[in-house]
Order: sequence, then structure tokens, then C-alpha cells
Amino acid sequence: MSGPNSDYDPVEVTPLKAEEVEAARDAALAAIAAAADLEQLKTVRLDHVGDRSPLALANREIGALPPAARKEAGARVGQARGAVNKALGERQAVLETEHEARILVEEAVDVTLPVDRRPAGGRHPLTTGAELIADIFVAMGWEVAEGPVIEAEWLNFDALNLGPDHPARTMQDTFWTDPAENHLVLRTHTSPVQARTMLSRGVSEDAPIYVVCPGRVFRTDEYDATHSPMFHQVEGLAIDKGITMAHLKGTLDHFAGQMFGEGINTRFRPSYFPFTEPSAEVDLVCFVCRGTGLNDAGTDPCRTCRGEGWIEWGGCGMVNPRVLRACGIDADTYSGFAFGMGIERTLMFRHGLEDLRTLFEGDVRFTTAFGSEL
Ligand code: PHE
Repeated sequence: MSGPNSDYDPVEVTPLKAEEVEAARDAALAAIAAAADLEQLKTVRLDHVGDRSPLALANREIGALPPAARKEAGARVGQARGAVNKALGERQAVLETEHEARILVEEAVDVTLPVDRRPAGGRHPLTTGAELIADIFVAMGWEVAEGPVIEAEWLNFDALNLGPDHPARTMQDTFWTDPAENHLVLRTHTSPVQARTMLSRGVSEDAPIYVVCPGRVFRTDEYDATHSPMFHQVEGLAIDKGITMAHLKGTLDHFAGQMFGEGINTRFRPSYFPFTEPSAEVDLVCFVCRGTGLNDAGTDPCRTCRGEGWIEWGGCGMVNPRVLRACGIDADTYSGFAFGMGIERTLMFRHGLEDLRTLFEGDVRFTTAFGSEL
């Protein structure tokens, strides 16, 4: 604030002239009335009543006037400031009320609007099915192993005693990759994971092998209700001292019981696989007629097993000693069993699916029916 100054001519102090004070007041009132929201009103307040506003400056000059002039000037400036502050307060109240009313409208939630009921999707039954199978084995202390889908020819065939002349090695059965010199194939079964497991970890008394290997495999099959050029298998491999075919049978009976229900046992039919000796096809008690071979009425053959009472599930056998030796395992000390099943086929049995293709078409109405909605 300027101090009293005898050289100062009060009449010449511009900010205190009546018309100046009125002009400053009117400008302030007009700006207040024009402020459209609280933000604008804040700026108006700074401009018109802030420290550097004309009215604040005028107020500060009053002290510099001779005492006789102070009263009139003080009253004039005081009235102007009073009017401006009152208008500010009123406008503030109006704008606050408007603001609150707008929030109520803009941020309102209409609880009566219909919600979006579209399902987000589902975990695919092949994924949950493979997990279920793995869990059955993990519960028995087995490990889960995996291998690549683009596999070395040697591991897919040679290590498994499938010689160079074996028909499975032809172009008609197998997808070979270019260039041929790389000797890479899209694996035709999960059995190369057996060879990989034996080669990578070996076997000892303290560390026998019990692994289950779910995975994707490829064959040049037609795409129809029971075939697909890409499908999934689950492989099992046990290598330990004193393993016999009885262990294999007991393991598969347990697997079948867990998968399809108590009483769904397996039977073995003699078969041939180069990597197992002896080898067998595994059949399941037909889960529809439960082995009777007859339909519900007992009049006609069961349609699922065509009256057999059994349905084919997969292949198995005792690991061929030639395979054990190719994979660095002492075949005189250790023996083992292996099995391989199609996962799609297993799920078709478990859920009564008639067409394999439903598992590949990605229809969310199909996947959510498995109760796996995310
Ligand atoms: N790999 C065989 C197949 O794809 C299945 C199998 C696995 C058979 C293990 C015996 C032992 O048909």
C-alpha cells in the first residue's frame, strides 16, 4: 500500500474517480453474470476481486488520500466491492446448484437397462479334456511331458523301430516338411515324446519314468465325422524295474473308470506296433449298452458298438527292448509299458458326440454346453 504523500493530488488518482469505480463494478457484474460455469467464475473472481483487480487497486489507494477525501472514496469503493462480492456469491450458488443437477443427470445409471448377456467364450473341451486326463495320471504321481509338433524323422519313426520301409513313412500317411534334407515331419503320433523322455532323463532305480503326454498330431486323413488330418493323442509311458502287462492293464482300467465311470473296464486284443512287444488294441466296455451288445429294449443290436459290447479306444503294449536300447536304457534291467489314445475319440465317448468335427468348428454354443463358460 502507498503511504500518505503530501505531493499527491487526490483528485488525480484515476482509480478512485467515481466513473472509474462504477465502470470497474459494472465490468465485474457483467463478467459474473456471463460466467457459464464454476471454472469461468473462478477466473472472473481473480480478474475482478483479486489482488491486482481495478477495485483492489482502488481500495489500496484510499489510504494515500488526505483524511477528508478518504470517507467518500472509501464508501464508493466499498459499495462497489460489496456489490461485486454479493453478485459473486449469488452466481456461485446458482452455478453450484446447476453443476450438481447436471452430475445427477450425466452420471445417472439406468438400472432398468437390459445387460449384455452374450457369453464371453469358453475354454475349449479339448483343452479341458486334456487337462482332465492329465489330472487322472498326476493324481497317481505321474508327470506331464510335452514335445514339439514339428518332429525329427528319427524320433517319430527310427527310434521307435519303425524302419525305413514302414508304410507309415510314405507321403500318403505323413506330412513331410521342405526341405527334405532336414528330415522333419509333423509328428504322426505322440510316441516320439516317449523317445525324447527316455533320452533326456534316462532311468534309474530312484528315478523311474512315469509320464503322460497329451498333444497334437497330424496324418493325411480325410476330414469327416470320425477322421481329421489334425487331432490329439495322449501317450503314456512307464519304465521301471519289474513292469509287466498286468500294470498296464490295471492302469488302463483305472483310467477308463475315471473317464467313463466305474465298471467301464478294458480288454486287450492282440495287435502289432513296431515300438511295443507284445502289442494290443485296447477296447472299452460299450458305455451305452454296458457290454450287453443290445439296445435299450433288448431287441436289436446296440448302435454304438454294433452289438459287440466293446468299442475300440487305442493302442498299447510293452515297450520293445529295441526302443529301450535305441534310447539308451538297459533293457535287461528295466521294462516298461506304453499306450496311446485319441483325445477326440475319448471325448466323443465321454460326452456322446456323434461328429468329430464339432470339436474343431469353434462354435461357442458347443463349447459353453460343456459348462466351461469364462
Ligand atoms: N502311437 C500309436 C498310434 O498312434 C499308439 C500307441 C502308443 C501304441 C503307445 C502302442 C503304444 O497308433
